[in-house]
Amino acid sequence: MKVYLRLLRYTKPYIRHIVGSVLCMLALSVISSAIAFLVKPAIDDVFIKKDFRMLVAIPVLIIIAYLGKGMADFGQSYLMGFVGNRIVTDLREAVYRHIQSLSMSFITNTSTGLLMSRISNDVGILQRAVSDSVKKVLRNFFLVIGLTFVAFYQNWQMASLIFLVLPLVSIPIVKFGRKTKKYSRRSQERMGRISTFLIETISGNQTVKAFCMEEYGNRRFFKETNRLFSINLNTLKVSALSSPMMEFFGGILGASIVYYGGHSVIQGTMTTGEFFSFVAAVAMLYRPIKALSRENLKIQKGLAAAVRVFEILDIEPEIKEMPGTIKLPRLKQSIEFKEVSFQYEDTPVLKNVSFLAEAGGILAVIGKSGAGKTTITNLLLRFYDVDSGGIFLDGINIKDVTIKSLREQIAFVTQETILFNDTIRNNIAYGSLDVSDEYIIQAAKSAYAHEFIQSMPQGYETVIGEKGVRLSGGQRQRIAIARAIVKNAPILILDEATSALDTHSEKEVQRALENLMKGRTTILIAHRLSTVRNANQIIVLSDGEVIERGTHDDLVKHRGIYNRLIEIQSGYHKKNLNNTTSSHQ
Ligand SMILES: Nc1ncnc2c1ncn2[C@@H]1O[C@H](COP(=O)(O)OP(=O)(O)OP(=O)(O)O)[C@@H](O)[C@H]1O
Ligand SMILES: [Mg+2]
Repeated sequence: MKVYLRLLRYTKPYIRHIVGSVLCMLALSVISSAIAFLVKPAIDDVFIKKDFRMLVAIPVLIIIAYLGKGMADFGQSYLMGFVGNRIVTDLREAVYRHIQSLSMSFITNTSTGLLMSRISNDVGILQRAVSDSVKKVLRNFFLVIGLTFVAFYQNWQMASLIFLVLPLVSIPIVKFGRKTKKYSRRSQERMGRISTFLIETISGNQTVKAFCMEEYGNRRFFKETNRLFSINLNTLKVSALSSPMMEFFGGILGASIVYYGGHSVIQGTMTTGEFFSFVAAVAMLYRPIKALSRENLKIQKGLAAAVRVFEILDIEPEIKEMPGTIKLPRLKQSIEFKEVSFQYEDTPVLKNVSFLAEAGGILAVIGKSGAGKTTITNLLLRFYDVDSGGIFLDGINIKDVTIKSLREQIAFVTQETILFNDTIRNNIAYGSLDVSDEYIIQAAKSAYAHEFIQSMPQGYETVIGEKGVRLSGGQRQRIAIARAIVKNAPILILDEATSALDTHSEKEVQRALENLMKGRTTILIAHRLSTVRNANQIIVLSDGEVIERGTHDDLVKHRGIYNRLIEIQSGYHKKNLNNTTSSHQ
């Protein structure tokens, strides 16, 4: 019931269309009933009394009636279809907007396929239910009323007989409706899993092929589709059964009418015309009643889909802006983490992390994989909120500023470069789409990307494929750097920004990064310690705790973990160099 009401709210802006459509339906029902009614004079006056005037009048009336019926039919179909499509478009937009507003934790914990199926499948099912089934149900409902009136008018005894039987028929209809709803929910859940699987194996197809896992994938896919098949088969059984059952009831009714009506006509209590008019009304009733039961099943499916769509709309974003937040002014002094603790799920990832990064300088964060380095940047961007402690920009807690003004101040180049299936130009300008072409080219030049971009077939207008598959890892990274340059934010996060590069391009990218870091406050996360040497401050993270901090020289003097790492890495280099020279000899 709640779902109905909630859906109803979406119809509000289109109330004029709905009223128009309902008027057309009423007209349709009146005209259809009139046609059933015309059967009586047609038979009694034309065929039995052989009245010539009526012979002309009735065909003319029939033509006019059908013309009106056609117009009304078009009107109600078009208007209701319009409303249905509009509601669904609004709903789809609302769901998309809402998903975009949800927190990272929701997005990372929910399968892509599930979300996709909510936006495309469920909303689609709802669309069919709203634009098609609701229209049919309303239309047929009015028809049933009109025709019922004719039936009662012509012979109330026979009509009562029929309407005693009808409630019996409605029991299986209701039952089938419930079953369909249940199966539909299961079927959509399966569909969601199939979509997730598809997305993963198509976008990860390289890995699938390299590991020769095609067969494995096929088997898993077949398993999923076959499960879907058996659920759909159940739905099919229910809907295939509902129609023959209705027909059977119809048959019984037909037999009773012929018997009872024939009896009355023979005994003279009813004219032949009345009988056939009655039969016409009842016969015309059959289709709408059958449609009502069929559309009921579809509406049940649609409601199940609506429930799933509303489920998404009801999820509250975890990261919220408190009332009274201010716009964060451009960073002038420092970024400070004060005793920050955080966990994604159950295990603590950051424990009492404190540091202060001076504006304009470089703060380097190093530590083993999984130590919590990326988590620090996730918190700074407010993808997640700290569990305790606080993050302060120029002394202002980031929870007290608008999320937009916070994120506008931060540009990042991450471990995984995310590019979109768009032109190189738009990928570089992502986030600042209105910048000039010269500015973009300038940024690309500083990122050492201009050359390779120019050598591409359409230059800056080249579309780079989904996730930028048509570029090399290093090229992707340089585009990401150009993007960060264009954003021109005071804070820069470089999370393993040179991880996808060979030594040669690393030098180029390194220079690009140096261009980028100029005049900004940088948080630099790197495995290769050679890149962090110039940092104003280095913090060493281990298991979510800061275990060493200071400049390169301080830490080397301190002879702790950092120093040991330096020794290992430079030793590595020497050994590697020796190996290559010896293999050349
Ligand atoms: N979305 C998430 N949900 C749950 N746990 C997570 C999530 N992201 C990271 N973690 C966990 O948090 C810990 C720290 O992860 P983080 O990404 O900060 O490591 P990192 O220091 O950046 O490692 P790397 O050098 O490999 O990038 C890891 O143990 C990881 O398993
Ligand atoms: Mg990381």
